[in-house]
Amino acid sequence: MKIVYLSVSGQLGGAERALLDFMASLRAAQPRMTLELVAGADGALLAEARALGVAARALAFPRVLARLGDAGVRGGGKSRLLGTLGRASLSTPAAALYTRRLREALAASAPDLVHTNGFKMHALGLWAAPPGVPVLWHVHDYVSPRPLMARLMRAQARRCAAAVANSSSVADDLRAACGPGLRVYPIHNAVDLVRFSPAGSVLDLDSRAGLAAPAHPVVRVGLVATMARWKGHEVFLRALARLDGDVPVRGYIVGDALYQTAGSQHSVAELRRTAQRLGLGERVGFTGFVEDAAAAMRALDVVVHASTQPEPFGLVIAEAMACGRALVVSKGGGAAEIVTPGEDALVHEPGSAAELAARIGELARDPALRAALGARAAQSARRRFARDRLARELTPIYRMLTVKAA
Ligand code: GLC
Repeated sequence: MKIVYLSVSGQLGGAERALLDFMASLRAAQPRMTLELVAGADGALLAEARALGVAARALAFPRVLARLGDAGVRGGGKSRLLGTLGRASLSTPAAALYTRRLREALAASAPDLVHTNGFKMHALGLWAAPPGVPVLWHVHDYVSPRPLMARLMRAQARRCAAAVANSSSVADDLRAACGPGLRVYPIHNAVDLVRFSPAGSVLDLDSRAGLAAPAHPVVRVGLVATMARWKGHEVFLRALARLDGDVPVRGYIVGDALYQTAGSQHSVAELRRTAQRLGLGERVGFTGFVEDAAAAMRALDVVVHASTQPEPFGLVIAEAMACGRALVVSKGGGAAEIVTPGEDALVHEPGSAAELAARIGELARDPALRAALGARAAQSARRRFARDRLARELTPIYRMLTVKAA
């Protein structure tokens, strides 16, 4: 069987790392399956895919497609304007030319199935797949808050063979947006438990952030995330500013702007200004993009997840659990499916800096609680997030769709 994956981004955000994990799992379980990847831009995803034995190449989006997206205005007042602009962008000659080139590339590959990652590829994949070849959408985000994509996906759903969603919560949302005609299979992500494990190298976060090592021991608390605005960087900074200082804490923002979509991300410079306004000084450091996320997490006593909107899945949560970290998670969405509050993580109300500060304070004052939560998180991760599960859950779906198509 031959599968061609279409990825919007060539960078390694959550959806792309999840895709790599699926490919790695399939390579191990189904060595005779041929896997190819086409991405809308070059980047680290392609090199990592090649290292797994996946033939990967970039078919670069024209600028108009690269910048199109409405993730940044989820539910915002600009949605209608963006929807209109979005429709216009998708019907430009540049977009039509791109679809033609993608169609040619797919015809040459002659896949048995096309597996799409990212909203733009869900639409482009359907327009470009050879006739009769099933297209499987892999949906990593909520559709309903994204007006343009929701409309497009609803309109296209009947041509899509089936969808995989990264949580039951995302699956429910997708069913609600696309109607009962679309079959949706939730498959939770997994992580590489060898790389994300409690033991291993530890990053020097202070030097990465250009800070002097603290004069006295500190509890290191970090938000590891892409710079999407809804990931809650500002909530985290405000929570740090509220800590009463009885236990010295140093906060870290680990990550940098990644995606090409306009308007949807913070810049590090902007967050530095916020930290300055809050008077955080050396109580927070910005490491920028970190290659080895596991080593960064192992350097943290507490990993914070602060998304202000329901998190579709939360790969960072799974990774931090696998690293045996004490974790504070923003309640709701798919994230609620992967932690057991009080057992393997603490939770806070999304967007509440006060609650987040309270949880960080509890953990900062109580090393035994941190150790117990971390140990239980590592156990949960081994049970829930082993990568071999992915091939076990996905292969029957591939088989069913390709048999039907044949
Ligand atoms: C998207 C989601 C995130 C999820 C990742 C991998 O980035 O926003 O919650 O962890 O995809 O599925």
